Amino acid sequence: MISYKILWIDDDQAILESAGRLFRQHPWTLCTAAKADDARELLLRETFAVVVADQGLQAATGVDILEFAKARAPTTTRILLTGGVEMSVIEQAVNRGHVFRFVTKPWNNDQLVVDIAKAIEHHKLKMAESSLLREITLQNRKYEQLTSGLEQLVNERTVTAERSKVEVEKQLTNLRELVRFIKDLSNLTSPDELMGLIRKEVRAFHDVRPPVLGYVDAERGPMLLYFHGKQAIAHLARVIWSNRSRIRSGEEEDRNYLMSEFGRTFLNKVLAVPLKRRAAAGDHETEPPATLFFEHALADEGVDRFLSFISERLQPLSIALDRILLDLHLKYTSRQWESTFDGIKDPIAVIDRDFTVVNANRHFCSDLDANRIAGRPCHQILASSESMCRGCPVPTTLTTGKPQKGQIRRGNRIYEVLSYPIRLHDNLISTSFINHYVDVTEARELDGRMVQNEKMAAIGLLAGNIAHELNNPLTGIRSLAQVLLAELPPGQLHDDINEVERAAGRSQKIIENLLDFSRGGTEERQVRISLNEIVRRTLPMLKTAIREHRSEILLCEQEGEIRVEPHLMQQVVFNLVNNACQAMKDPGTITIETDIEEGKCRLHVKDTGVGIPSEIIESIFEPFFTTKEKGQGTGLGLSMSRQVIEKFGGDIAVESQVGQGTHFTVCLPLVGIVAESASRTEKRAGA
Ligand SMILES: Nc1ncnc2c1ncn2[C@@H]1O[C@H](COP(=O)(O)OP(=O)(O)OP(=O)(O)O)[C@@H](O)[C@H]1O
Ligand SMILES: [Mg+2]
Repeated sequence: MISYKILWIDDDQAILESAGRLFRQHPWTLCTAAKADDARELLLRETFAVVVADQGLQAATGVDILEFAKARAPTTTRILLTGGVEMSVIEQAVNRGHVFRFVTKPWNNDQLVVDIAKAIEHHKLKMAESSLLREITLQNRKYEQLTSGLEQLVNERTVTAERSKVEVEKQLTNLRELVRFIKDLSNLTSPDELMGLIRKEVRAFHDVRPPVLGYVDAERGPMLLYFHGKQAIAHLARVIWSNRSRIRSGEEEDRNYLMSEFGRTFLNKVLAVPLKRRAAAGDHETEPPATLFFEHALADEGVDRFLSFISERLQPLSIALDRILLDLHLKYTSRQWESTFDGIKDPIAVIDRDFTVVNANRHFCSDLDANRIAGRPCHQILASSESMCRGCPVPTTLTTGKPQKGQIRRGNRIYEVLSYPIRLHDNLISTSFINHYVDVTEARELDGRMVQNEKMAAIGLLAGNIAHELNNPLTGIRSLAQVLLAELPPGQLHDDINEVERAAGRSQKIIENLLDFSRGGTEERQVRISLNEIVRRTLPMLKTAIREHRSEILLCEQEGEIRVEPHLMQQVVFNLVNNACQAMKDPGTITIETDIEEGKCRLHVKDTGVGIPSEIIESIFEPFFTTKEKGQGTGLGLSMSRQVIEKFGGDIAVESQVGQGTHFTVCLPLVGIVAESASRTEKRAGA
């Protein structure tokens, strides 16, 4: 607990003692002074809560002391002790000493204690007030300091902000310029256009001449692109000067390079800007270098400005050039591929998984008369069909993922199709196919002909042997019969022998025909011969085949002549009749008929056999097309027949009804009619 100090000043010792006695009961510390000087000294040394001063001191008045106390410590509460109430004293006390209370002698003890206690309260208030004031003053000072610091900071910041606003605007303008430049770059498609843009960009630098660009063109090699007036000119360079590392200005070697390439002097300095090229895909080497050269007369400061201008644009420029050159490279390689494919004499097409033609070479379009190819299915282009061609290897290529071979037909041409899967990625699924079409029609026909020749040669050999073997006995029979005829008188026996002689003669004729038939390619001459005669000559060889069936031979009254190689025409008749017989599982009727209509000689071969289903009727003239069991038919009969007929200027047609029968019609140009007598004779001979 604080013990408040009280200073009592009075020159009357009794008063001081009575005050001491009174205060002993209270928690106050009393100090006393009898003289004014002692009081002043005490007031200078110590601080008191309350000062009580008697007005009537010797060397000074109480008011003097209280004034001193106030000046010394304003928080000290001051009480004036007076003998009586004099107005002048009160006035002084108020004006000079700011007295808290007046206490008159003799005092009332209780009242004095109350007054002193109040004075101490007053002192405490004053103290609190003064400490608050001090605190406020301190805070004020701090606040002032802070305010002035803040002001300074705000001032500094304002200056910086203004400066950076200008800076930011400048940067923004720069950035906008750059964005515009990059946009412009993205629309360029050639180095010429690129050069045009660079030239426009650097126009603001008056001492910089239009650029020169050195790069490697995929097709033409090292190039220097420069301006002649407004025109960008491509100059074939000997080498491409490259110093990839940095932008450099005023170096002799750059100028020397340009001088040696262009064969002229460069008076100004040269600034060389290497443009970085992307690393080629899958390649560790970077693409061939490119360099921009600027001839300039810039001062050092100008060079710096120009350098920073170019440096900012360096990366977009490099990327744009890279893209343009890559694009040109791609176009060049794709042109190379195209001309390679076009150079191949066979049709080649890239086909999608759904049979759509994606791309094709020149021969595919010209050989297959395909004007519009892209987007159309291959079978529509090749065979005007809505479904896949018979024999197409693509489905097998699709399922196996391996190259396959197949054979398709287009009109009367046969194509071998080599189908190669294209796999763009490492997975097993092919994205598309390359189909290579090889026209094998001639080769197949040659094969067919060779087989036929072999067949014919074998028959010829056999027939030759048989003819040889039979001819001798037949000659014996005929000559003996003739001898007998000469010796026998007319009568029944003579007639019989005559019949034997004629039969032996007919047999010899048949052998002759057989020899003719089998002689094949050895006799290549075309002769005029009646169609009826061809039929008559062939019939004996068909007797065995026809035997099981009913046959109707309806030969035209008029002997219409055609120009053919007889043995080949006989083969046609033989094939048609043979097919007809084979088509009739049960005994049926075969009709062989000839007629003449509109300048044509026609042969009809009709049967009442199984007929030909419509889905295969288109194919029956194809070489090797057969429905017969393996070893039963080669599938060459009809194809050879059509070939022979077309060779003699004719054509062959077929009509058929499944389960009812088939009707083949052969038409050949009529070249004349055999004279009546001859015709009759032949007819008799055939009868
Ligand atoms: N008259 C016919 N009736 C029914 N089908 C026929 C008739 N003629 C031909 N064909 C069909 O045409 C196919 C081809 O005939 P082609 O004569 O070319 O060969 P092939 O008779 O099968 O064999 P090859 O003639 O070599 O013995 C036959 O397999 C058969 O399916
Ligand atoms: Mg046949």
